[in-house]
Amino acid sequence: MVVEEKVIILDFGGQYTQLIARMIREQKVYCEILPYNVSLEELLQAKPSALIFSGGLASVYEPEAPYCDPRFYRLGIPVLGICYGMQLMARDLGGEILQAPIQEYGRTFLSVTESGELFKGLGKRFVAWMSHADQVTAVPPGFRVLAQSKDTPVAAMADETAKLYGLQFHPEVIHTPQWQAILSNFLFRICRFSGEWTIENFVENSIREIREQAGPHGRAVCGLSGGVDSSVAAMLVHKAIGPRLFCIFVDHGLLRKGEKEEVLSTFQDKFNMQIIAVDAAEEFLKLLEGVTDPEEKRKIIGRHFIRVFEREAEKLGDIDFLVQGTLYPDVIESGTATAALIKSHHNVGGLPEDMQLALIEPLKYLFKDEVRRVGEELGLPEEMVWRHPFPGPGLAVRILGEVTPEKLSILREADNIIVEEIKRAGLYRKIWQVFAVLPNILSVGVKGDRRTYAHTVALRAVTSRDGMTADWYPIPYEVLSTISSRLVNEIPQVNRFVYDLTSKPPSTIEWE
Ligand code: XMP
Repeated sequence: MVVEEKVIILDFGGQYTQLIARMIREQKVYCEILPYNVSLEELLQAKPSALIFSGGLASVYEPEAPYCDPRFYRLGIPVLGICYGMQLMARDLGGEILQAPIQEYGRTFLSVTESGELFKGLGKRFVAWMSHADQVTAVPPGFRVLAQSKDTPVAAMADETAKLYGLQFHPEVIHTPQWQAILSNFLFRICRFSGEWTIENFVENSIREIREQAGPHGRAVCGLSGGVDSSVAAMLVHKAIGPRLFCIFVDHGLLRKGEKEEVLSTFQDKFNMQIIAVDAAEEFLKLLEGVTDPEEKRKIIGRHFIRVFEREAEKLGDIDFLVQGTLYPDVIESGTATAALIKSHHNVGGLPEDMQLALIEPLKYLFKDEVRRVGEELGLPEEMVWRHPFPGPGLAVRILGEVTPEKLSILREADNIIVEEIKRAGLYRKIWQVFAVLPNILSVGVKGDRRTYAHTVALRAVTSRDGMTADWYPIPYEVLSTISSRLVNEIPQVNRFVYDLTSKPPSTIEWE
């Protein structure tokens, strides 16, 4: 993205790299993450106004230790090295690093020896979060020590003339209570940024960039699922090229209650966008008949989804672009090793491999919370902006065993009751995902004076930052109790309700 003030964070493999990016953006400064081994040419193309070297797991003296082109220190822009980043800076510029006799982990008191610009206003002592095995024992020529701790002789260093700074601790974590002051000293005192990167000007910039990319006649297609990512991406592109954007909404019959109607009324009626709504429920259900294996179900849905999408896209004639709601964490992570296949995920609207279309990905530099803010800025209804993630294969992965129209309708009702009660209790935004599962268990019960043999509904509620790991959410008993009575009273085919108390790992969020 073209912006005047941009921090480039070089990723040396530390666990907090994305967090650094988010903290900087919270200060209204735009930043991007690049791998540590970018070439000088690539780095200059990104037009950085400052660099941050992230932490990393290696020791700078290991033969395989990651390092960057040493010319990066001489670009005349400020460089801040954090933890491994500082050790690398010290090594490259002639300092000394040794294994620390006492390794520091966790909260540590720092004494400021010289505040310089970086620690201005922080006082003589503050608490910082340390996590390191090596330490700088002698600073490179031209550097001064800014802070020390009991066991770390160089907790911070600077060569202010060359605008080079190093911090042994992590200023990006909240366990360093002064994190905001330190980052803002770096960004505003040292880099002299104005901090004007806001969601409003992101929207403006990105509409301009989409217009440039699409040219005066470019036509685009977008798979709209109603999820926040594809919705926001489609709205931005619609703002940029208006009726030259065609959105395809495939109803695969596995959606939640009222979802299709909500998507159509929002995008077609309220925002006047061109939506091609495809009712493909029957086709999908036919293909799923008799299929019980979870992976098989996912594959059938994924494959057929692309077929339906292509079929509809072909009817539109010449199309040049495919709009996708890819987010920044996907972009960063796609550069790293892929984890073992646990479930074959596919994204609704995923790129059909043989469609020769250029991509428009207006959200590819944004984090999820920023996408939500863009959605709010563009007037997307709150319900949609804050809607929990929903898997591409929809309710099919929440019904164990064969998917049938009857099970779908039970699950839709159950899910709707659960979400209604969670919202009523004011818990919806505290939870990453909450939903009903139909485990396909029939059990004996009694309703009135009659024996029943009916379905069990399970409730899944988790907190998570990114869906990769998750904890089960402790819903208060009163809320569970209301949900329980409503489920068995309002849905004739349900006589039992259970609550899933497992975290991920060892479970996954979806049951299939
Ligand atoms: P699991 O079940 O693997 O889910 O713990 C992690 C997150 O991913 C969502 N999910 C999917 N999203 N297509 C998607 O777009 C899929 O096939 C898919 N399967 C799971 C899930 O809802 C959770 O947020």
